[in-house]
Amino acid sequence: MFVTPLIAAPMAGGTTTPELALATHGAGAFPFAAGGYRTAEQLATHIAPLRAAGMDFGVNLFVPRPFPLGADESAALATYRTQLLATARRYGTEVPGTVLAEDDPKVQDFWAEKVDLLLADPVSMVSFTFGLAPAPVVARLQKVGTRVMASVTSVAEALAAVETGVDALLVQHANAGGHTAAFLSGPTNSSATLPELISAVRDAVKLPIVGAGGIAGAEDVKAVLAAGAEAAALGTALLRTDESGARTLHKDALADPAYTATVMTRAFTGKLARALVNDFVRDHSGSAPEAYPEVHFLTAPLRAAASAANDPRALNLWAGTGWKSAKSGPAAAVVEGFLKGLS
Ligand SMILES: Cc1cc2nc3c(=O)[nH]c(=O)nc-3n(C[C@H](O)[C@H](O)[C@H](O)COP(=O)(O)O)c2cc1C
Repeated sequence: MFVTPLIAAPMAGGTTTPELALATHGAGAFPFAAGGYRTAEQLATHIAPLRAAGMDFGVNLFVPRPFPLGADESAALATYRTQLLATARRYGTEVPGTVLAEDDPKVQDFWAEKVDLLLADPVSMVSFTFGLAPAPVVARLQKVGTRVMASVTSVAEALAAVETGVDALLVQHANAGGHTAAFLSGPTNSSATLPELISAVRDAVKLPIVGAGGIAGAEDVKAVLAAGAEAAALGTALLRTDESGARTLHKDALADPAYTATVMTRAFTGKLARALVNDFVRDHSGSAPEAYPEVHFLTAPLRAAASAANDPRALNLWAGTGWKSAKSGPAAAVVEGFLKGLS
């Protein structure tokens, strides 16, 4: 299914730039554009340079939550808002007082319009995270010639994905940087490694697999391939590269020995995501409710203010467990380094 064993993973929020996709493709990886947080128009602009280059690439979308926020989570959200006020004021900003309606296009992450765009102007592959695309959407994409990949974090999620008719699975381990793809339950505390998770999924499901999460070097890729995956996806390994759109503060933090650990936290967005441990993570992880994307919108002004103040203490410094190996410099050199290590 993939002509290369290396995938440049989608990283929404500005990290995956067209330049990053072009550079990783040029060096021999298969890149994914990041559709999350974007409107259809913004997504079209994001992928225009990739189309113009005539290259093969995928597009990743967030699947919106299929049910409204529960009453308990709504109450916890109000409490969390109050707790954030002091931190927000420290940064000279406020916490939004209103919660966006469930049917707000932002809460739905502009899902319908982006699916329509990808049906009208197809790409070779679409991957989904945060949930499963409904089977009719999968079928419509396949009908226009697009292969569809679901992101899963367990055997149970892989079996559920198969029911929707997808062509491939991205098997993501909890060591991954950024948001977990988990949708049935949080990432398990299982001690299974990524290769073990891939083997377990492979025993249960006969679909091509891409392995992701914590890949820091070529040896990790080899282990993923030996476990039965067709390819391995790099996220964190590309974060510090020249073409990555991650903030300088984020890139610098990844190289700063003052940061000594990553942790899964809901503090920034309401969905578990792996980040470097900073003050915000320490102060707010204990009380953040399971309310994505509502918490994302609550903390957005605060994160923007911290960034403007050049202060990483309240930033979401997404990082996988392999963050210490992430190199600066051209993305092509990182991809070439991995590929060389495989030969
Ligand atoms: C900054 C950042 C943003 C991410 N954004 C997305 C995204 O938009 N969609 C997605 O499916 N995965 C996203 N991920 C997860 C990656 O696609 C990938 O699964 C993960 O980075 C692999 O683990 P690693 O970071 O240890 O290499 C993101 C990861 C990071 C670090």
